[in-house]
Amino acid sequence: MKTYFVVGHRSGIGRALTELLLNRGDAVVGLSRSESGLVHPNLTEFQADILNWDGSGLPEALDGFIYAPGSINLKPFKGYKPEEFRSDFEINALGAALALQKAEKALRAAQGAALLFSTVAVGQGMSYHASIAMAKGAVEGLVRSLAAEWAPAVRVNAVAPSLTDTPLASKLLGNEARAAAAAERHPLKRVGQVGELAHAGLALIDNPWISGQVLGVDGGMSSLRP
Ligand SMILES: NC(=O)c1ccc[n+]([C@@H]2O[C@H](COP(=O)([O-])OP(=O)(O)OC[C@H]3O[C@@H](n4cnc5c(N)ncnc54)[C@H](OP(=O)(O)O)[C@@H]3O)[C@@H](O)[C@H]2O)c1
Repeated sequence: MKTYFVVGHRSGIGRALTELLLNRGDAVVGLSRSESGLVHPNLTEFQADILNWDGSGLPEALDGFIYAPGSINLKPFKGYKPEEFRSDFEINALGAALALQKAEKALRAAQGAALLFSTVAVGQGMSYHASIAMAKGAVEGLVRSLAAEWAPAVRVNAVAPSLTDTPLASKLLGNEARAAAAAERHPLKRVGQVGELAHAGLALIDNPWISGQVLGVDGGMSSLRP
């Protein structure tokens, strides 16, 4: 049985990954600010804000590390307040870096793999995405830098989703007209489902010859013009 640490296991893509791991017989240590309601003999969970977490609760050896907290705060550039840039950077990039520092020893002990989340809006310029694109651009830099520094012991990769149906995206998908417009913008004519993102992330974690990559799982948004 392998052991995975999932930051953000309560909802969305992090929860889908947690369920996939538990269902295949692995153990998960989950950290979120609130309880997940998930009950499974192989799940240990605790509540903390990752930005204040002291590293307690980590097992000695980790086969995988997943960082799934994030933000969607879209507006015209001139409207961002300094604290919004700061908080987007903190939850998306700084939180991941600090948690990875705490998990390094355990990841090295098991020759594990880390998975982070970027966004399609880093590789593809999108209006009103300045703050999240800045923060996730830092995540992509962290992925490649750390993948080099930790090779060959620990692999580091990311998934870059486009709009996916999770609690985080609920404002953007909150009514039928918005949801239909969001689906229409994608070459594959729909938004993502959590399972599609979770399976792609798990493939990166499981494949022993992939490191330093950012995989677009985005309904064709980053690369297709049908
Ligand atoms: N959904 C999309 O459309 C989309 C698009 C592009 C990129 N992404 C990225 O994909 C990743 C997963 O997104 P998602 O939509 O699945 O997000 P989500 O539904 O908001 O889930 C985030 C998880 O992180 C936890 N969390 C948030 N802040 C935390 C904190 N300060 N400390 C500890 N845990 C915290 C949440 O639980 P608690 O609230 O209980 O803490 C929750 O379990 C994110 O990095 C996001 O930026 C998502």
